[in-house]
Amino acid sequence: MTAISSVGVVGSGTMGRGIAESALRAGLRVVLHDSSQEALSSARKRIESSLARSVEQGQLSADQASERLALLEPASAPDSLSGCQLVIEAVPEILEVKLAVLASVEGHVSRSAVIATNTSSIPITRLAQALAHRDRFLGLHFFNPVPRMPLVEVIRTVHSSEGTVAATREFVAAGLGKTALLLEDRPGFVVNALLIPFLLAAARMLDNGYAPAETIDEAMRLGCGHPMGPLELADFIGLDVVCAAADAMFGQSHDPALVVPNNLRRLVDAGHLGAKTGRGIYPHG
Ligand SMILES: NC(=O)c1ccc[n+]([C@@H]2O[C@H](COP(=O)([O-])OP(=O)(O)OC[C@H]3O[C@@H](n4cnc5c(N)ncnc54)[C@H](O)[C@@H]3O)[C@@H](O)[C@H]2O)c1
Repeated sequence: MTAISSVGVVGSGTMGRGIAESALRAGLRVVLHDSSQEALSSARKRIESSLARSVEQGQLSADQASERLALLEPASAPDSLSGCQLVIEAVPEILEVKLAVLASVEGHVSRSAVIATNTSSIPITRLAQALAHRDRFLGLHFFNPVPRMPLVEVIRTVHSSEGTVAATREFVAAGLGKTALLLEDRPGFVVNALLIPFLLAAARMLDNGYAPAETIDEAMRLGCGHPMGPLELADFIGLDVVCAAADAMFGQSHDPALVVPNNLRRLVDAGHLGAKTGRGIYPHG
């Protein structure tokens, strides 16, 4: 398989936009497809501002920033993905939506194209059922904010071919300059399997009156050298995202450590989702 130089990304939200930006920064051609024209325009603007910040900080020349942006093709129709060697799906974490998108992508790309999903919590093997050729499919789990986070979990299924895995690992390492960790299809892979129970345990401590939120966070920052405490991190990730990941993983493992505590559930029900809504466990100015 030749090295991947043209990438398609489906979904231009938080993750799709970040994946597209990372590929553009690496000099790859990117077709960014979204069913919402508004989301596409907003993603293009945010990528442009992020490149402009790199120019101000002396990390890119103005010419380099324009060259990178010129590699981006925003597309509201999925047939624009037809020439891509790799298409990464980053649409909302809803099984039916992802199955429909993956089947549609397969209908547009060549037989040799690799198709990947950025799902956090849906089993990759379940999503593979959308495809006629499951050997070409795997999970590519990026972390937010994608341009700054160096890890990508590469999750193979029993169907993924050696060629698919090798080409994708090379894309992550040589193409994007990130670290690819090859993992099996287990609930939460590795990072979320460890992180989500930790965040829930911190929320449970708060709910049970062990200590105020600030104290719990300070303890983990100063005692364990974490850059953010678990409750600050949950607010940053989004309490809805944390609860959805916990619920999905609980559905697969029934591990009691994945039961969402009442305080988190109430905040999500109230629409207090963290930094993105201005209020979560903490107020956000
Ligand atoms: N946000 C995170 O921190 C994070 C981290 C790792 C993985 N993930 C996973 O990445 C995926 C995307 O998450 P996100 O936070 O970027 O979501 P998001 O809601 O910010 O973006 C989703 C985008 O998909 C678009 N979309 C919806 N249906 C579509 C369709 N049928 N065709 C094309 N586009 C469509 C929406 O318009 C939206 O722009 C999810 O599976 C999530 O679990 C998220």
